[in-house]
Amino acid sequence: MGELDGRVAIVTGAGRGIGEQVARKLAAAGAHVVVSDRDGAEAEAVVAGLQTAGHAHVGDLTAPGVCDALVASAVATFGGLDIVVNNAGYAWDGPLHKVTDEQYQAMLDIHTIVPFRVLRAAAPHLREAAKAERAEGREVFRKVVNVTSLAGVMGNAGQTAYASGKGAIVGLTRATAKEWGALKINVNCVAFGVIDTRLIAPVGEAGEIPAGDTGGTITLGVPAKVRESFGLAIPLGRPATPEEAARGVYFLCSPASDYVHGQVLNVSGGLSLGMAG
Ligand SMILES: NC(=O)c1ccc[n+]([C@@H]2O[C@H](COP(=O)([O-])OP(=O)(O)OC[C@H]3O[C@@H](n4cnc5c(N)ncnc54)[C@H](O)[C@@H]3O)[C@@H](O)[C@H]2O)c1
Repeated sequence: MGELDGRVAIVTGAGRGIGEQVARKLAAAGAHVVVSDRDGAEAEAVVAGLQTAGHAHVGDLTAPGVCDALVASAVATFGGLDIVVNNAGYAWDGPLHKVTDEQYQAMLDIHTIVPFRVLRAAAPHLREAAKAERAEGREVFRKVVNVTSLAGVMGNAGQTAYASGKGAIVGLTRATAKEWGALKINVNCVAFGVIDTRLIAPVGEAGEIPAGDTGGTITLGVPAKVRESFGLAIPLGRPATPEEAARGVYFLCSPASDYVHGQVLNVSGGLSLGMAG
């Protein structure tokens, strides 16, 4: 028996990195997981390795209709929806004076608009089930976890566009928590510091990804000097593994967090970037 037996979860950006580890943990606890990613082979490979039946949903979440289709596929495949993890994202960095309109829009699209659309599509499935349970006098907790970044809550030079998208999702989280609390739908954020995925791999090893819908590409990774600074800047002395990062998300998907609501949990090894109000 797992503590999430029979639950149905969507995890966006679960084809690799932190999202993959979140999907694995949810499935290990008994949940059926819809693995959403733009990269089909990666998503299928994650599903093949899950401990419960999973489902891959492949598509660029910023494209019209894809967020709605994702939620519809979860409900059609598993008959309901209980957990939503809005994790898909990437960084397209640059100092404010060089940020293009397309770049700024792309960071808002993936980090704010996509989570909003996924939650709007999920709303009837989460809310109507909760209303029926409330009418029967039963409390059943459902879970929304939105992934933000220390850059979004404290700022980071060179990441004005990324920080804007990751900051807005905190407002979305807190407002939704106030709307959905009465239905026992917990809505929280996890703010990551530095997690050892391709996003922080050495430049040259990390590859490239599409730059929004511009037709261009973004070179992933960070320069060697920045990587060397992580050990000194992070009080715990190193980046987190993706599996360590996923533990924070799992906590907010599990019954252990039923009375945690509208919060931002920093999973950063003590790194704080220093400008929190
Ligand atoms: N790695 C870090 O240090 C770090 C720090 C703070 C926050 N984060 C956030 O954590 C989340 C996960 O990042 P990660 O480090 O695991 O990165 P990753 O690149 O390893 O995984 C992200 C996944 O999201 C998918 N994705 C991106 N855009 C998509 C789109 N438009 N449609 C569908 N799928 C899409 C990618 O294909 C990829 O598989 C992101 O939101 C990221 O901003 C990461």
